[in-house]
Amino acid sequence: MSEIKNISISYSEFQDKNELSAEDQELIRVSEEAARSAYAPYSQFRVGAAIRLESGRMVHGANVENAAFPSGICAERTALAAAITNYPDDRPVTMAISAISVDGSPAEQVTPCGNCRQVIAEEESRWNRQIRILLAGKHKILELDGIGQLLPLQFNRKSLRSDHP
Ligand code: THU
Repeated sequence: MSEIKNISISYSEFQDKNELSAEDQELIRVSEEAARSAYAPYSQFRVGAAIRLESGRMVHGANVENAAFPSGICAERTALAAAITNYPDDRPVTMAISAISVDGSPAEQVTPCGNCRQVIAEEESRWNRQIRILLAGKHKILELDGIGQLLPLQFNRKSLRSDHP
């Protein structure tokens, strides 16, 4: 007999950046600045991501587009690649994501695309720890404990083991 299962996700919503710690506010500021350095001539949609590593250090990235559209890369993956390659032994703890609209004003919060969710999931499973995610929008900020909230039933390194449950 089949059975319907439900999965629920949870996140916290903040109306004001000031409700967050000074460290988180700083991380969001860095993600906003990163968005300004995006190379997005095709979509004009500029996204920035900033990662706080366990040491306290911050690493940022922005989307980089390409005339061959699929060759473009999102801010989240740019930031993660920078963190992993420059500081391979420093665990990512929190990632903040911000975007700027076509007219240059701060955009509503964006949630990472499917590719980025998968890449964030890989980094979580590498460390066996969640990466906290802050989605910073002009009207509110969403806080998620980890990518599981955005990518349930994920395929990750554990799935490759033949004996996984
Ligand atoms: N983009 C990101 O960088 N991150 C996201 O979370 C959503 C989308 C980029 C990809 C592309 O350069 C532009 O935004 C429009 O999709």
